[in-house]
Amino acid sequence: MDPRGRVALVTGAGRRVGHAIALALGGAGANVAVHFNTAREAANETVSAIRKAGSGAELFQADLRDDAALDGLIPAVISRFGRLEILINSASVFRDIPLFETTRAEWDENFAVNVRAPFLLSQAMARSLDGKPGKIINLNDWKNARPKRFAYGVSKSALSGLTRSMALALAPNIQVNEVALGAILLPPGSPPGYEHVLARRTPAKRMGTLEEIAGTMLWLIQNDYVTGETVRVDGGQHLSRV
Ligand SMILES: NC(=O)c1ccc[n+]([C@@H]2O[C@H](COP(=O)([O-])OP(=O)(O)OC[C@H]3O[C@@H](n4cnc5c(N)ncnc54)[C@H](OP(=O)(O)O)[C@@H]3O)[C@@H](O)[C@H]2O)c1
Repeated sequence: MDPRGRVALVTGAGRRVGHAIALALGGAGANVAVHFNTAREAANETVSAIRKAGSGAELFQADLRDDAALDGLIPAVISRFGRLEILINSASVFRDIPLFETTRAEWDENFAVNVRAPFLLSQAMARSLDGKPGKIINLNDWKNARPKRFAYGVSKSALSGLTRSMALALAPNIQVNEVALGAILLPPGSPPGYEHVLARRTPAKRMGTLEEIAGTMLWLIQNDYVTGETVRVDGGQHLSRV
């Protein structure tokens, strides 16, 4: 698929990784639906930067835990742009909560944002495409067994299952893949110098860049014969922990 002239929705596109992906898609000529929940100002800046680069961009607010907001998101994008062909599920809950502190509410929130929203958004986009070509890319983590981030890890494991089942269910017209990131951006509140700790733990001996993520996303969009795949962009981190 050539991203030029296509319509892409990026969830969590106000900040950090989602912001970089939205800019890359806009730079590649796609019209971008920039989703945010709370980061309105930052998302507005994403929209301005994409428009400045010459592509279409619009802002869409939705709390992905909320059924009505979730159900309204794809129709709102289609009503604005006329169609939707690329879905990037980047929005995520990420908190340091170990097993014995994991409440039902914490579990439910992780699953709502990290799995249920990608499921419902993918289903709605696929329905709207009605056999026409599409791309879905889910943002995952190189490590999804995480005792210190228990519900997050389990929800990201479920996202891998969703990616593979969706890939089969939506073949042949829609390719569904996930990109599993290593250390790209420090979690908010990281101690000073933590980037050196992460770099030391990584076979590549450095953190990854947003450009490396963006390039992987564009490659997956352009490739029509890869589906159900996990592309790890983690500097080899998964190899050092098996
Ligand atoms: N950063 C890394 O190095 C790294 C490493 C491994 C995996 N990943 C994965 O890559 C993706 C992006 O990472 P990131 O670090 O950019 O993520 P992040 O900063 O933790 O969160 C991304 C966005 O998720 C949105 N979000 C959270 N709760 C939401 C809700 N209830 N409804 C709607 N949106 C919600 C937030 O939107 P608002 O700000 O608008 O509220 C936020 O901007 C995630 O899926 C993450 O698991 C990242």
